[in-house]
Amino acid sequence: FNVPVPTNEPVYSYAPGTKERELLQAAIAEARAQEVDVPMYIGGKEIRTDKLGKLTPPHDHKHVLGQYHQGSKSHVTDAINAALAAKADWENLPWEQRAAIFLKAAELASSKYRYKLNAATMLGQSKNPYQAEIDSACEFTDFLRFNVAYMTEIYAQQPPANSKGVWNRVEQRPLEGFVFALTPFNFTAIAGNLPSCVAMMGNVVVWKPSNTQIYSANVLMQIFKEAGLPDGVINLIYVSGPDAGDVIFKHPDFAGIHFTGSTGVFQDIWKTIGQNIHQYKTYPRIVGETGGKDFILAHPSADINVLNTALVRGAFEYQGQKCSAASRAYVPASLWNELKGLMEKDIKSFKIGGTEDFSNFINAVIDEKAFDKITSYIDKAKSSKDAEVVIGGEYDKSTGYFIHPTVILAKTPDYETLSEELFGPVLTIYVYDDNKWEETLKLVDQTSIYALTGSIISQDRYAIDQATNALRNAAGNFYINDKCTGAVVGQQPFGGARGSGTNDKAGSMINLLRWVSPRTIKETF
Ligand code: SER
Repeated sequence: FNVPVPTNEPVYSYAPGTKERELLQAAIAEARAQEVDVPMYIGGKEIRTDKLGKLTPPHDHKHVLGQYHQGSKSHVTDAINAALAAKADWENLPWEQRAAIFLKAAELASSKYRYKLNAATMLGQSKNPYQAEIDSACEFTDFLRFNVAYMTEIYAQQPPANSKGVWNRVEQRPLEGFVFALTPFNFTAIAGNLPSCVAMMGNVVVWKPSNTQIYSANVLMQIFKEAGLPDGVINLIYVSGPDAGDVIFKHPDFAGIHFTGSTGVFQDIWKTIGQNIHQYKTYPRIVGETGGKDFILAHPSADINVLNTALVRGAFEYQGQKCSAASRAYVPASLWNELKGLMEKDIKSFKIGGTEDFSNFINAVIDEKAFDKITSYIDKAKSSKDAEVVIGGEYDKSTGYFIHPTVILAKTPDYETLSEELFGPVLTIYVYDDNKWEETLKLVDQTSIYALTGSIISQDRYAIDQATNALRNAAGNFYINDKCTGAVVGQQPFGGARGSGTNDKAGSMINLLRWVSPRTIKETF
């Protein structure tokens, strides 16, 4: 099959004086100048209700980006019915035609909509321009282009063997029913990928984004529509989690969920699906990426500058709200004092504020609930005998949800912020005795229930080998001498096991295969 060979979308720098910077600033000014009215999309129609929600930037309580229309249980039912009504035509459309729609969406996201989508991510989710660029413009586009290539490989798979008088075929059918996409706030790319990769394989989708990503979800939907996605294939609804769950998980045609979010919510969903299992026509596919307590482990041989960069970037880019963010680190006593000085210097240089000023490296955390949770852990550490706040610790929610990058020094290896997920700009460091390297490997492996990402920083090949083996199950994405964030689609397929998810690697053939149900056909002559 001849589909374009995917390559990663180039990342723009937005350096001062560049044309790209001007265009992005113009898109932000345009977005700030007009309040949007965001409808739901059911069966291709814009649905408005009299229940309105307000859209405000997390970093600027005074500014209103617009309003969105909230639905109720009846809208969930409407979305399922619209999906099922679109199903026959969509799954019978040749896969090349489906591929063309998503390739066009990639083209739109990387060109015509690039600045608008980045601006929406910056304003709605409080990302700085570079973080918005690697997410909305690049990762989203990469997901679309690479998934089209993986889809092609699936449809082009080697056919089964035949014997005399027999012709065997395998047909990759879409799932029988509809799929529910429940998406997070922290990556516009993930919000766009979860429904689109399911639809690509011929399925119909009900999509509920996080309430804190609605502003950019609306732009994603514009892109899908302009790319020619037929009505009803992806239905975008804004309803409460319980309202969506009540209708979706009881529906006989529920065929699967594609989820990114918290471990607790995913486990509750899994239980509900289990309880209702007798009601479904087919066993639903359950695919989810959930929490993390991602680690950076430094060996005494670590290059201290590599270690410092991995820590400050891994822990604090996008305010520590990446699923992959470094939130615990294990540092040998011999490196700690020098490392602390380097980290302090870098962290003090980070400017904090709104996303519109491109020199701000740290913006706000997503909402008040997140702010209160993260700061309660900081306060506890300040008064605990088992921990010390060594860098940062300040916060202020008067104008936006701002928390300074914070480093907690844990005095015991079981201090709570070494195992609990905070999802914010807080890094907990445990300083270990240089002679206790092997015990430390065990601590890294056993301290948390999660296993999403992790790094080893070392110049000693034996130590790298030892850590790679000992931490085999502690991370689905493992990095050697790098930060534990920034997986690139097509290069490092992303996902973890244990409490971090089903590890069906986002942007991979493994993931796409979860959205088909093969039929084997034997014909005898
Ligand atoms: N690619 C992101 C990261 O690894 C997650 O989607 O940080």
